[in-house]
Amino acid sequence: MLRAASVMSSKLGFNGRVAIVTGAGGGLGKTYALLLASKGASVVVNDLGGAATGGGGSSRPADNVVEEIIRQGGRAVGNYDSVEEGHKIVKTAIDKYGRVDIVINNAGILRDKTFMKMTEDDWDLVHRVHLRGSFIVTKAAWPYMRQQNYGRVIMTASTSGLYGNFGQANYSAAKLGLLGLSNTVAIEGQKYGIHCNTIVPTAASRLTESIMPQDLFQIVKPDLVAPVVAYLCHEECEETGQVFEVAGGWAAKVRWQQAHGAVLLDDESVSVESVRDNWDKVTDFSSALNHSSTTEALGHMMSLVKEARNARHQTNNLKASSSLSSNGLSSSPLAGVDLSKVKEYMSERTPFTYSERDVILYALGVGAKASNLADLKFLYENHEGFGPLPTYGVITAWKGQSSILSRALPNVDFDFAKMLHGEQYLEIMKPIPPSGTLYCQSRIVDVLDKRSGASIILEASTTDSNNELVCVNQFVIFFVGAGRFNGPRTSPNVKKLFPPPDRQPDAVVEEKTSTDQAAVYRLSGDYNPLHIDPEFAAVGGFDQPILHGMSTFGHSARHVLAKFADNDISKFRAIKARFSNPVLPGQTLRTEMWKEGSRIFYRTLVVETGKVVISGGYVDLFESSSMKQVSSDSPSNAVFEEIKQRIAANPSLVQKVNAVFAFHIMQEGDAVKQWTVDMKRSPGSVTEGPSSVKADCTMIISDTDFVDMAKGKLDGQKAFMSGKLKIKGNVMMSQRLGKLFKDQSKL
Ligand code: NAI
Repeated sequence: MLRAASVMSSKLGFNGRVAIVTGAGGGLGKTYALLLASKGASVVVNDLGGAATGGGGSSRPADNVVEEIIRQGGRAVGNYDSVEEGHKIVKTAIDKYGRVDIVINNAGILRDKTFMKMTEDDWDLVHRVHLRGSFIVTKAAWPYMRQQNYGRVIMTASTSGLYGNFGQANYSAAKLGLLGLSNTVAIEGQKYGIHCNTIVPTAASRLTESIMPQDLFQIVKPDLVAPVVAYLCHEECEETGQVFEVAGGWAAKVRWQQAHGAVLLDDESVSVESVRDNWDKVTDFSSALNHSSTTEALGHMMSLVKEARNARHQTNNLKASSSLSSNGLSSSPLAGVDLSKVKEYMSERTPFTYSERDVILYALGVGAKASNLADLKFLYENHEGFGPLPTYGVITAWKGQSSILSRALPNVDFDFAKMLHGEQYLEIMKPIPPSGTLYCQSRIVDVLDKRSGASIILEASTTDSNNELVCVNQFVIFFVGAGRFNGPRTSPNVKKLFPPPDRQPDAVVEEKTSTDQAAVYRLSGDYNPLHIDPEFAAVGGFDQPILHGMSTFGHSARHVLAKFADNDISKFRAIKARFSNPVLPGQTLRTEMWKEGSRIFYRTLVVETGKVVISGGYVDLFESSSMKQVSSDSPSNAVFEEIKQRIAANPSLVQKVNAVFAFHIMQEGDAVKQWTVDMKRSPGSVTEGPSSVKADCTMIISDTDFVDMAKGKLDGQKAFMSGKLKIKGNVMMSQRLGKLFKDQSKL
């Protein structure tokens, strides 16, 4: 809403800008020239006035457009050179207007033939006009743009290039070539303020009149494409190196997608059989990635290959870990790494698609049983309460973890064989849907020097398609032997562990795990052979493959849910655990629990050995019973809803405000509602209920006063001075709320 308001209030002009539009004598190019000129740009209208297949020439088409612009009070000059002589087109701009800010490479012809009949001439001519022509015009303008530290370049591709089209082999190849050109020009132009984007238009023109169905031809008017091109050419537009399909008043960004992929190596080589056996994974897009750079793409591959190479030695190192930690290795791969840079890295928002079947498989992996009626809602998709266990939130973020290290720390040669999953924290903001696509974004929040190793704190935010936070995970990953790099020992960002109270537990659940527990759990995405391959496990000194720590974690969470939350997943808020010892499938888990308010402290042991396997753990539950009921149409609800929409519309607010606010909404002296506005963790969230992270400032105010304040009827400072508004914590921080309360008429 804020964004819409600001966009509406400011018109996008091109005064002082000089634009070259090639092939602007007709079709799409003409609409670009007319629109830019009407918004103040001086335009070089280039067109050699040839036939659609490339022959002939006339100055008339360009002159007509120039005349129309001048008639309407604009500035334009004609140019009749071929784009193959791009330097002459640029010279026209420099001679007449003294600069060039915008180049729209639009000129084009067709020489359609089936591949069988296509001649080298057909191929060369199309390439010369589209690909070579765009190169030559852009190259001639480049020194001027570089010198003025500003430029906007558009390449024109085609759906034929992106998807192929019968009879257009020459044209498809040239058009996709333009996308490659644009990708690199965008990278090289970045530091000079030169942006380059590619458009993929569909429009009624002489090029399409004979091939396009009439009903489509009527809809896709070329002047509906022009505003998108103009926006991409405006100084306000920050896009670069991107592709947009545009047609008939619709536009959409397009990007490449890469399947998560599979490592095919048997030892050092790849066999054809291994390719066949892994083909399903190679072609599985269910957790696809969208890389935005070559570094990212290669980083993903590198991390998977490294991980696979090291996996076979992992158990060895688990065994060796204690001796390594005691002999105090000093050559850390993190020595000399600028950790502040590491923390700036934020991964792509990666989709994670899952089905009801995946959710059921996970529940089985953490011990849910159809024989236990209370578990049925996690196992049977037609159950009225069907949904994922809250700890499924970990799975939504699991895959993203594999590549974040190599991307955020690209030059650090971690030994993945020495990697241990130390601790886990999960917080649920919204119930996880039974199936669908969620998106996960991860970053490293801290790298700690624990001397015997390095602790890497990874945080992953899972959001839904509305960009609302569903859950947040914190993984603590320990690399044995990677310490002593002079890094910080502790971090305020790490979620704390708590020892249980010093008394007998309030509840205990014992559950024997299945001997196939690890075999089932791995199907939720953790395929480390340590959990399935007896030979592999034996190398590490285990009698049999060990259970995934995350399966034990899921068992413990189930036990807490059953004992203290009636198996009601909506009461589950957060869980923390430290993994202290391995569990063997078939062993009996004993979860001991202590209730202190809304927090359940727990620890998990193996009954057969008495060893603690999860320590320092707790589960936080929502406790709505302490709240008085408030009508669902409470006036403050609408204000929070509006704040939520503002954050979604303007994600940069999160960084600007950078604070967590708690609100206690009062009625007749009683707290009737609590809200948390988290503007610290991207993408920001507005949730009903108490804050799980420490709020920077807590505001206590009545329902009506809050609404008045939001609407600007009650001055915040006066409310504070008169006692209507009480503020705990950092009072100064409350002023940052102003950024959310702008534009009060809409609240
Ligand atoms: P159009 O034929 O109406 O316009 C192209 C213009 O380029 C013509 O006025 C022509 O005289 C000029 N031209 C051709 N060769 C030239 C050269 N060597 N030097 C200077 N000018 C030259 O076609 P339309 O549809 O407006 O196409 C514009 C651009 O959009 C082309 O690059 C085309 O490939 C592309 N495109 C168009 C689509 C559509 O649905 N109309 C679909 C996908 C891409």
